Amino acid sequence: MPMAFNCGTGRTLTDSVEPVRYRQLGSSDLQVSEISLGSWLTYGGGVERAQAQACVVKALEVGINFIDTANVYAGGRAEEFLGEVLTGRRRDSFVLATKVFFQMPNGDRGLSSAQIHTQIDASLARLRTEYVDLYQCHRYDWDTPLEETMEALTEVVRQGKARYLGFSEWPVDKIAEAQAMAGVEHFVSSQPQYSMIWRGPEQDVIPYCRDHGISQIVWSPLAQGVLTGKYKPGEPPPGDSRAAQESMNYFFGDRLRGDRLLEQVQELGEVAKDLGISTAQLALAWVLREPNVASAIVGASRPRQVEDNAAASGVELDAATLGRIDTILAGSVAHEGPAS
Ligand SMILES: NC(=O)c1ccc[n+]([C@@H]2O[C@H](COP(=O)([O-])OP(=O)(O)OC[C@H]3O[C@@H](n4cnc5c(N)ncnc54)[C@H](OP(=O)(O)O)[C@@H]3O)[C@@H](O)[C@H]2O)c1
Repeated sequence: MPMAFNCGTGRTLTDSVEPVRYRQLGSSDLQVSEISLGSWLTYGGGVERAQAQACVVKALEVGINFIDTANVYAGGRAEEFLGEVLTGRRRDSFVLATKVFFQMPNGDRGLSSAQIHTQIDASLARLRTEYVDLYQCHRYDWDTPLEETMEALTEVVRQGKARYLGFSEWPVDKIAEAQAMAGVEHFVSSQPQYSMIWRGPEQDVIPYCRDHGISQIVWSPLAQGVLTGKYKPGEPPPGDSRAAQESMNYFFGDRLRGDRLLEQVQELGEVAKDLGISTAQLALAWVLREPNVASAIVGASRPRQVEDNAAASGVELDAATLGRIDTILAGSVAHEGPAS
């Protein structure tokens, strides 16, 4: 008999592994795992190849079916790595998302028609696939008319190179303009930064999207690892953590390193302990409490982390727990300002 205990979260945990759950992605027919695997900084970059491959294998093994990358990650090497490790698997057994916009090593950038057509072909070649499930605009391109971008994205879908479209960190008025455009494919996903300490999307992006067939697939839900509790106030970062790696810590700003926040995260660890879950699971369950979030995109440097994170799927936090979290994090939650 597996030992069972109620963690006060509406879910009974057992010592056997709970299956990962899936949510529908916006108005698409895609079912994505509540926890997905990201590849920024890690794959083709800061995480050694065998270790990176072990993370992808573990993710698929535990039921994670959704993998996020971008043309720009490690200058194309993240896509190349994923193309290598996913080769040989049934293409319809995983949902693959990539992005376009940021400057590539050869200077290419933006969302012009020419760029979109060039970049999708380059991404598909690196990913060794005929199509991606989700093609996302990594940011809004103020130098290209929106009509040109949407028409080019529509051609990409109608050519069968992408099944659905998404965006990341677009202003809500531009999202609305794109969704109102006639004769083009519309967006099904939004990729904002969202975590217990970064709640910007709650202002206007989530309210707009929930009424317009768009789900959130959120990035840095662990605040790059800070919300796992492994960074201790007054102590140097663990040697094997992102904050200690020069190859990966260049977005690890002062806000994430402050002792006050690190103390608060230690207190969150007590909340997690009371619920019988890890601090990382508490942080991931927190973003998944929002029904408009289809998936939390989590980076991982080792397979154990993938397992830990996947087990957050299905954990429900009750109102008292959500209240405790807000009380603990008082003064450290940002609602507006630059997302990254
Ligand atoms: N659209 C955008 O503009 C944008 C921007 C950023 C990211 N993203 C996407 O979002 C994904 C996730 O973002 P992210 O990697 O910055 O943030 P994250 O998921 O909040 O943090 C990931 C890092 O935290 C550590 N970690 C993960 N699980 C852990 C666990 N259970 N216990 C302890 N440590 C753990 C690992 O780093 P160490 O082991 O090295 O410490 C891991 O690489 C990216 O991979 C990318 O696909 C998108």
